[in-house]
Amino acid sequence: MPEKEPIGVIGTGYVGLVQGTCLAELGHEVWCRDIVPDKIDALNRGEVPIYEPGLAELIERNRERLHFTTDMGEVAANAELLFCCVDTPPTYSGDADLSRVERVVEELGGLGRHALVMKSTVPVGTGRTIKRDHDGLGYVSNPEFLKEGSAVHDFMHPDRVVVGADGDSSDYGDRVAALYEPLGAPIVRTDVASAEMVKLASNAFLATKISFINEIANVSEELGADVTEVARGMGLDSRIGDRFLQAGIGYGGSCFPKDVQALKQLAGNTGYHFQLLTAVIEVNELQKRRTIGKLQKHLGSLVRKEIALLGVAFKPDTDDIREATSLVLAGRLRGEGARVRVYDPVAAERARDVLSYAEICPSAMKALEGADAAVLVTEWPEFRELDWAGAVKEAMRQPVVIDGRNFLDRDALRAAGFTYEGVGR
Ligand code: UGA
Repeated sequence: MPEKEPIGVIGTGYVGLVQGTCLAELGHEVWCRDIVPDKIDALNRGEVPIYEPGLAELIERNRERLHFTTDMGEVAANAELLFCCVDTPPTYSGDADLSRVERVVEELGGLGRHALVMKSTVPVGTGRTIKRDHDGLGYVSNPEFLKEGSAVHDFMHPDRVVVGADGDSSDYGDRVAALYEPLGAPIVRTDVASAEMVKLASNAFLATKISFINEIANVSEELGADVTEVARGMGLDSRIGDRFLQAGIGYGGSCFPKDVQALKQLAGNTGYHFQLLTAVIEVNELQKRRTIGKLQKHLGSLVRKEIALLGVAFKPDTDDIREATSLVLAGRLRGEGARVRVYDPVAAERARDVLSYAEICPSAMKALEGADAAVLVTEWPEFRELDWAGAVKEAMRQPVVIDGRNFLDRDALRAAGFTYEGVGR
């Protein structure tokens, strides 16, 4: 084996592109494969098809070690360890759709001796099934814990790396673990099923934390407590921790909603009713809609009211709008008869199709001009920099701000004459 193991990466979405690029940065020769020729052409021209801070620079820096291709044969010929980074979106039943993973496994048949290293989030038991059905294929579960927006940093500075391998694949497990050794993080070695469960359980736990603090927020609103103070007081208890305790307008994105649902479903398939996760999901759905009630409290009927949504992306520093709260909110507002304008510094164009009824504005000020209310949906730093007391106050028809992330300077806005409402305070 050469000193730095050559690597294959299948799927060049957020996960694959970050995985491949970061391994190249660690000195590995990496072959990245995607079935979409346009994506591969763009990457070969030096264009990065997704927005992820730091990624474009890193790709540029490692161009010589990174190879982009549509040809699985080329990848398989160059690397034995193949990271599977294709997506596993939810199906109507709530189960994960594994068709892309299955296709990858089929394609590898006859291409020689390989280990599939599963990065895609898959149901617990997937590895066992693949091993059973594909004799001779090595299999390692290596779930990813990257957050969009800080994915490169998260890869380089992980809290832990989880590597699951069974029986005759344990050598492959050693080789996968060795890739991460330079990062200096704890490496947790488990069997495949446990590694698969670590991934789903971690996301489900974080989502539970968010729904929990959102319920504390809702009760705090009634009882006169301030959830940001409550979270600060709770978070200093090291058993609780201060992260993922920010109350807001619900979690979104391509992971939490899907993975919580998938774990609930997985339990359900075995006949177990996962009550806690059922509640986590329901709380999140209600949380997304609570803003409508707050707007009605201040504006009365929303018919023909101009509502500006600041932020479309499911969180800052990404152009990802999958399961974004903005989309639910916009839809509900439209249902109430309001006119919806939206602005997002990077994600607005992506939303053009799904928000065809909304006005997509070129700037925050444009969205706020003549608005009856502003809803802060995504905590992009530029929203804090707006001249709220001056230009914004002047531009809006009614100075009503619903801050869905407790992000703006509440006291300054109130002092400037805004009707300001946050979450849980
Ligand atoms: C999440 C996990 O954090 C990653 O560890 C995991 O690898 C990833 O899913 C995945 O499974 O691929 P991500 O979806 O990129 O990462 O984003 P997060 O930063 O975790 O935020 C998720 C949602 O929770 C966002 O809508 C965010 O606004 C919301 N959130 C987060 C809160 O409402 N409150 C918080 O305190 C934290």
